[in-house]
Amino acid sequence: MIDDQHPVPTGFTASSTADDVLRGVDLTGRDVIVTGGHGRLGREVTRSLAAAGASVVVAARDTERAAAAVAGIHGVEVQQLDLTEPTSIDAFARRWVMSGRPLHALVNNAALLFTAERLVDARGNERSFSTSHLGHFQLTRALLPALRRAHGARVLTVTSGAARIGQIHWDDLAFARRYDAGAAYAQSKRANVLFTVELDRRHAEDGIRAFAAHPGVVIGPGPHAPDRIAAYREQGLVDEHGETVVDPDNGKKTVEQGAATLVLGAASPLLDGLGGVYLKDGDVARIDDEVRPLTADSIPADASSAMLDPDDARRLWAVSEQLTG
Ligand SMILES: NC(=O)c1ccc[n+]([C@@H]2O[C@H](COP(=O)([O-])OP(=O)(O)OC[C@H]3O[C@@H](n4cnc5c(N)ncnc54)[C@H](OP(=O)(O)O)[C@@H]3O)[C@@H](O)[C@H]2O)c1
Repeated sequence: MIDDQHPVPTGFTASSTADDVLRGVDLTGRDVIVTGGHGRLGREVTRSLAAAGASVVVAARDTERAAAAVAGIHGVEVQQLDLTEPTSIDAFARRWVMSGRPLHALVNNAALLFTAERLVDARGNERSFSTSHLGHFQLTRALLPALRRAHGARVLTVTSGAARIGQIHWDDLAFARRYDAGAAYAQSKRANVLFTVELDRRHAEDGIRAFAAHPGVVIGPGPHAPDRIAAYREQGLVDEHGETVVDPDNGKKTVEQGAATLVLGAASPLLDGLGGVYLKDGDVARIDDEVRPLTADSIPADASSAMLDPDDARRLWAVSEQLTG
């Protein structure tokens, strides 16, 4: 709810880690799904939730790669899910719901990050929108019976500060006319927040609360691919020696710091009673509607009124219902 869009405050900061957020939180007996729970941020979310006692299912399109990435983490299982394949989503959700297992937290983390070429899925939807938004929209709705069964569940959808600048291209969601990788990614991340707003409005009464969270900019410890270094340097993300810059107060974080806000939304009791809000830096974000440019020294990532617009949220829900048939 837009009235609740201000810091709690939780006491956490941009430097807090996932383990800091989950210290003293016992997730024994809680069932959690993390899509892409083996990737850069997803793996740390998986590791920290499992360390707090949760049973975590990593949902991945390539189960062998995912299993190798999470090998050795206790309490984790890998299951097949391709978010751009409606039949894969239905099969995954059906298995879960039929098993009778409750679902205490769904972490919609997977995404397709900037692709130079315009890619589409089998239904003609642009792939970053299809992966980040439509796939998670379909998955979340198919898992509603299991979320209800938890009698208190969270849906945490990983967005980005790019949601501030993301526009929903209502007349060309698939970027058929003019593709722009940054605009396509930003649209998908704006959609993650609008989805959260409408999901919470519809299902808070069922005990299902929704959050969207920005992790910060996380490129990992390195070494970085040689073809990425120049762009990273231009964005102030690596120094002159090619070393990762870690500056959490300016949004540049380690994987452990980035995952902190994600596990806050997925599992922290400090957010009980809230929902439909956007999180960053270990807390509910404040609203800042000033237009702020993105520079190497400043990565604007506060909430904006536009990303939380309830009318856009309803409209996107209706369009997404049509697109996922
Ligand atoms: N890193 C950042 O600076 C940053 C900043 C803001 C927001 N975020 C958000 O944080 C989340 C995690 O990003 P990350 O940096 O950890 O990226 P990442 O390492 O590339 O992780 C993305 C994950 O999504 C999975 N995935 C991609 N397409 C899929 C599909 N069709 N079906 C199922 N899974 C699929 C990937 O699996 P494969 O192994 O099969 O490719 C991978 O595990 C994303 O939502 C991203 O938008 C990241």
